Amino acid sequence: MLLYGASGHAKVIISCLQAAGVAVDAIFDDDPDKKKLLTIPVVGGYRAEYNPGEPLVVAIGDNRVRCRLAQWIQHPFGTAVHPSALIDSSVMLGNGSVVMHGAILQVDTCVGNHVIINTGASVDHDCTVADFVHVAPGAVVCGGIQVGTGTLIGAGAVVCPNLNIGRWATVGAGAVVTRPIPDYAVVVGNPARIIKINQPL
Ligand SMILES: CC(C)(COP(=O)(O)OP(=O)(O)OC[C@H]1O[C@@H](n2cnc3c(N)ncnc32)[C@H](O)[C@@H]1OP(=O)(O)O)[C@@H](O)C(=O)NCCC(=O)NCCS
Repeated sequence: MLLYGASGHAKVIISCLQAAGVAVDAIFDDDPDKKKLLTIPVVGGYRAEYNPGEPLVVAIGDNRVRCRLAQWIQHPFGTAVHPSALIDSSVMLGNGSVVMHGAILQVDTCVGNHVIINTGASVDHDCTVADFVHVAPGAVVCGGIQVGTGTLIGAGAVVCPNLNIGRWATVGAGAVVTRPIPDYAVVVGNPARIIKINQPL
């Protein structure tokens, strides 16, 4: 497996892959000062001709940056799932997505491409999690929820059942979402309230 991005987020992905018995051969990073992450060589900026055909995970936590890079990279995309994650056999997990330590994905949930289900997060039954979403550590997404493309569900947030969360929205850390969230909205608090609407991409 190859990674793009030699960050702390990449360290967690490496931990997932190594625990699952998958070797990480090299990491691309645009910072020429980075030479190694843990024991893995950082081989410079992205090159399509480097081990073509070897799967790659974009190890970038920022949803917009991950989206931009994924549209440009020419390698096939792999997935990284820590063995301690509990994933129902009915769950669909898209290319480039990662499921960290202790995360739970419940029955009939569908997770798109380049999604991060972070440490100890849970996504319950019958949810649809679109591409480039990040469900941050400890967040709880209850059953029947649609999460739109590129949205961040912040650490420890709770999203109550059967709600529609828009595209490129941000749910603040610890928020309790009780109503649908529009596209690009930033919400915080319990119950979650809109504090701003971000600019579209
Ligand atoms: C919601 C969030 C995106 C807002 O960031 P921001 O746009 O930089 O906003 P600010 O820090 O300027 O805060 C704006 C206001 O919202 C409040 N606020 C910010 N985050 C909050 C939160 N999570 N809960 C409650 N209030 C919050 C601030 O106190 C401030 O209030 P004030 O105007 O009364 O002083 C950010 O605080 C957050 O929670 N991000 C999620 C982080 C996360 O979980 N990342 C995953 C890492 S793996």
